Amino acid sequence: MFKTVAIVGATGAVGNEFRTLIEQRGWDAERYVMLASARSAGREVRLGGRGYVVQELTDSSFEGVDLALFSAGGSTSQRFAPIAARAGAVVVDNSSAFRMDPEVPLVIPEINPQDIQNHRGIIANPNCSTIVLLMAVWPLHHVSRVRRIVVSTYQAVSGAGLRAMEELQRQTRDVLAGRPPRPEVFPHPCAFNVFSHNSPIDATGYNAEERKMVHETHKILHDQAIAVTATCVRVPVLRAHSEAVNLTFEKPMTAGQARGILSAAPGVRVVDQLDPPHFPMPIEATGIDEVLVGRIRQDISQPDGRGIDLFISGDQLRKGAALNAIQIAELLEPGGV
Ligand code: A2P
Repeated sequence: MFKTVAIVGATGAVGNEFRTLIEQRGWDAERYVMLASARSAGREVRLGGRGYVVQELTDSSFEGVDLALFSAGGSTSQRFAPIAARAGAVVVDNSSAFRMDPEVPLVIPEINPQDIQNHRGIIANPNCSTIVLLMAVWPLHHVSRVRRIVVSTYQAVSGAGLRAMEELQRQTRDVLAGRPPRPEVFPHPCAFNVFSHNSPIDATGYNAEERKMVHETHKILHDQAIAVTATCVRVPVLRAHSEAVNLTFEKPMTAGQARGILSAAPGVRVVDQLDPPHFPMPIEATGIDEVLVGRIRQDISQPDGRGIDLFISGDQLRKGAALNAIQIAELLEPGGV
C-alpha cells in the first residue's frame, strides 16, 4: 500500500468520503496528510479513529507523498496537481482540469483499467454523471455495440459541494417555515425546484456538464463514433444522481438480454421489480457502492428492437467521485491491473 497519502480538499464533501472509504477499505498508509485552503488550516478531521490537523495547501505540501487524492476544484488541481506529480506523487484528480488532456488517462476501473498504465503522474476521475451513466451502458455496449445514447439527468446538489448540500437543507427548512429560499451557491432555489444544470452554456445551447458527458464517454469507451446527447438537470436530492437513458444498439437487444447482462455486471445492482413496483431511487443509492439500474424495457418507439430504456441511480459522492478515485488508486498497487 501507499506509505504517505495526501487528501487535497480533505474538508469537502468528496474529501469526507475519501476518509470514510479509506477507513472502510482498510488502507494502512503510514502517514495521511490532510490539505485544504487557509480557511480550514488548524481544523481537525478524522480518519480511522484518529484526528488529523488540516494543513493549508502549499507548493511544499507534497514532499514524501506517494499518492495525492485531489478534490478541491479545477483551479486548485490545475495549479497543484503538476507540483504533486513533480514531487513524485501519483495524483488521482477528481476535477475536470485534466480529463480531456490526451496524456492523462480518464478511468473507470470496471471499464478501462488498462488505461492507467499510460499515466505520467496524473490520472483523471471522470465526471460523476458520466460514471453513473457508463456503469450501466458499458456492460451492454461490451456485448452488443451501442450506437446512440440519449440521457437526461436528475442530479443531486452534492456535485456542487458541502455548501450546496447545506443550502438545500437550509432552503427546505426556510420554505417549510414560510420564509423565502435564499440561493447562495446555486443561481436558483434548489429546494422544491428543478433547474437546468448550473454550468456555463455555450453557443450551441449545451451546458458544460452535458458536453462533459459526451466527450468523456468517447474517451473512456475509446469510441468517437458513439452518438451521445444529454440534458442535465438539478433536482432537490442530497447526494445521488439519477439518469433516464435511451439506447440504440447496432443489432436488436431485448429487455431480457439487457437485464441478464446488467445482473452480471460488476458494480451494478439491478432493481427492476414490476409488482409491487420497485425501481432505482436516489435514496436507496445513497451510501452504497453499486449503481442501481432498473426500468429496463424495450423502447416501443424503435420497432426494429434496437432500442432499450433504463433508469439509473448512483451515489454521486461514492461511485461518482470518491469511490472511483479510490478504486483507481487501488489499481496502482502491484498486480492491480
Ligand atoms: P476549505 O474547506 O478550506 O474551503 P466542497 O466540494 O465540499 O466544496 O469542498 C471543496 C474542498 O476543496 C474543501 O476541502 C476546500 O477547503 C478545498 N479547497 C477549496 N479551495 C481551495 C484552495 N484554493 N486550496 C486548497 N483547498 C481548497
